Amino acid sequence: MRVCIVGCGHVGLVTGACLAERGHAVLGVDADASRVALLRRGKVPFHEPGLDRLVARHRRSGRLRFSGSIAEGVRFGEVVFICVPTPPRPDGSADLSFVEHVSRSIARALPGYRLVCEKSTVPVNTCDQVRATIAKYARKGADFDVASTPEFLREGRAVEDAMKPDRVVVGVETPRAEKILRELFRPFGAPIVATDIRSAELIKHASNSFLALKISYANALAAVCERVGADVMNVTRGMGLDARIGPQFLSAGIGYGGSCFPKDVRAFEAISRQLGYDFALLREVERLNREARERFVQRVEQQLWIVKDKTVGALGLSFKPDTDDVRESVALAVVRDLAGRGARVRAFDPQAMEAARRELRGVRGVRFCRRAADVFARADCVLILTEWPAFAKLDYARLKSRMAHPTILDGRNLLDPEALRRLGYTYRGVGRG
Ligand SMILES: NC(=O)c1ccc[n+]([C@@H]2O[C@H](COP(=O)([O-])OP(=O)(O)OC[C@H]3O[C@@H](n4cnc5c(N)ncnc54)[C@H](O)[C@@H]3O)[C@@H](O)[C@H]2O)c1
Repeated sequence: MRVCIVGCGHVGLVTGACLAERGHAVLGVDADASRVALLRRGKVPFHEPGLDRLVARHRRSGRLRFSGSIAEGVRFGEVVFICVPTPPRPDGSADLSFVEHVSRSIARALPGYRLVCEKSTVPVNTCDQVRATIAKYARKGADFDVASTPEFLREGRAVEDAMKPDRVVVGVETPRAEKILRELFRPFGAPIVATDIRSAELIKHASNSFLALKISYANALAAVCERVGADVMNVTRGMGLDARIGPQFLSAGIGYGGSCFPKDVRAFEAISRQLGYDFALLREVERLNREARERFVQRVEQQLWIVKDKTVGALGLSFKPDTDDVRESVALAVVRDLAGRGARVRAFDPQAMEAARRELRGVRGVRFCRRAADVFARADCVLILTEWPAFAKLDYARLKSRMAHPTILDGRNLLDPEALRRLGYTYRGVGRG
C-alpha cells in the first residue's frame, strides 16, 4: 500500500522505515526542511539502533522517500499517519496545535478517499476534533475516514518493537478503515486489536500511565526497603516472577523521564479531570516520581555534606540507555540540580553529549568528558544516572585510584554492590538496605 507519514521523528521515521521493510511504499513528510534534507542524504537525525540501516536499505529500494510537502504526501498516500509532537501545556494537558495544524493541511490537500490515522499520543476524543477539522477545511463532500493507531514502541528498541509489536491497536469507525488497516499491518504478524476510536485513544494513555505507576510503585517500595535494610531488587524479583505482575518496569531508581511518560501521565490526569473524574492516583504517581529524584539528590548531599565545590562524576545523561534523547531526562535534572548547588560536575554519556550540551547551555559548573573513565578524575563521588550497559563493564578496580574518594551512588541499581564494596568503594544503590 502507499503510505504518507507526517512527522519524521522518533515515531514517524521508525514507523515509515518499518512499513517500507514490510513491503509498503512510504513518503515521509516533515516541516523541518533541514531534517528532510538530512533524510534525503540517507542520514538519520537521532540515535536509534538499527534505524540507519533500515532507512538506507529502503532509500535504495525506493520504498522510503521524503518530502517537505504535506500536499504531496496526501496525494501519494492512501493512508496518512499523523506523527507530530503533542507536548504538555503548563496545566499538564496536551498541546494539540501540531495535530490541528496538520489536520488542516491534510484537509486542503485531500484528492479523494484517504484514511487519516492519528499515531501521535493524544487524549481521548481528539479523533473527533481531527474529523471535524478535516471536514471543516476540506472541500464539501470530501471522502475520508479517521482512525486511531497508537504507537507503543520504546526508544532504544524502537525498530525491534515496531517490527515485532506485541499487538497493533486500531481504533476505527467504518468497516472500510478497518479493512485497510488490517491489510496494512497484516505483514507484521501481531494480534490486531480492532476497537472503537475512543477506546484506542484510551489504550495508549492507560498503558503508559500504568507503566509509570509500576515504576513509582517500585520507588515507593525502595523507600520502605531502605528503612528496614531489605533489598528492593530481591523484593521486585520475587514479585515480578508472579505472571500476574510481571518483572518489567518494576525497577527502583531515580524515576522515569523521557518525552512520553511524564507528559502522558499529566495529560491523562488532565483529560480525566476535564471529563469530570478526579484520577488522583495519577497525581500520586507523579509525586512519587519527583520524590525518587529528590531522595537521590538528598543522598548525594548526605554523602558529601556540603555539595559546593565538590567534584561529582555523572555517568549517563540520556533519559534511558540506547538513545541520545534527553527530553525530560531525570539524569539531566540531577546534574542541573547539583550544579545549581555549586558542585563541579564531570559528565559523560555514550550518545547524548551533544543534546545534553544544548540542554545545559548556560548552566555553570558542568564539564563534559570525552570518556566514561574521565568522570572519575579527582571525583568525591560518581553517580550512575542512566543504566547504559557499558557502565557496568568499566574497570572499577583501576578507576578507584583516580577518585579523590571512592564513592559510587548508583541511581539505577546497575552495579553489583558486593563486588564494588570488595574493591573498597563506598557504594549505595536505591532501596538496597
Ligand atoms: N518517542 C517515543 O518513544 C514515542 C512513543 C510512542 C508515542 N509517541 C508519541 O508520538 C508523537 C511524536 O513523538 P516523537 O517522539 O516522534 O516526536 P519527535 O519530536 O521526535 O518528532 C516529531 C516530528 O514532527 C515534525 N513536525 C512537527 N510539526 C510538523 C508539521 N506541522 N508537519 C510535518 N512535520 C511536523 C518535527 O519536525 C519532528 O521531526 C508524540 O505524540 C509522542 O507522544 C512517542
